[in-house]
Amino acid sequence: MDVIELVKSEVEKLCKEYKNNSPDNYDFWNEHIKYVYNRAIELANKYNADIEIVGLGALLHDIALIKKIGTRKEHHINGQKISEELLLNYKYDNKKLIRVLDCIYNHRSSKNAKTIEELCVADADILAHFDNIPMLFNSAFNRENISLNNINDWLNEMLEKDFNDLSDKTKEWYKDRYNLIKDILIKK
Ligand SMILES: [Fe+2]
Ligand SMILES: [Fe+2]
Repeated sequence: MDVIELVKSEVEKLCKEYKNNSPDNYDFWNEHIKYVYNRAIELANKYNADIEIVGLGALLHDIALIKKIGTRKEHHINGQKISEELLLNYKYDNKKLIRVLDCIYNHRSSKNAKTIEELCVADADILAHFDNIPMLFNSAFNRENISLNNINDWLNEMLEKDFNDLSDKTKEWYKDRYNLIKDILIKK
């Protein structure tokens, strides 16, 4: 089995554990990680980035949240540590390891990305939100306690913030779809 398949099955297993042991039964794999992974590979192909580095970065970027280690604020730092351990267990090449760890550390905004691989993971993390609209409503109503009266403002702010966090080139590529999503979602 190649390293991507190994890590994929490990992350899927951890997501199942999270789902079974969390009060909200949040399915990290099916609600978030799989979308990030698919978009990251799409961007990697589009931008000629290294598919393996991007794929591993996408699969592991939120591993600290999935394993419930540390705070959300520091999940990019803890994620690096957990991923380093995991990949060293698979005897993963040291030079490539550093590049994967950088993708995890810098996934929280494409503004932090220093390489094209880091940019693919950071942008994919955002595109995953647009790919799963029901999840946005779940966040609004069940996590943030937003009322129906305030949903327009919340959605507007959330969608704009996400779009602005994309890199310039992904913004350019995605803008028509983004405008379509906003047009459909925002109440008139
Ligand atoms: Fe994250
Ligand atoms: Fe994420």
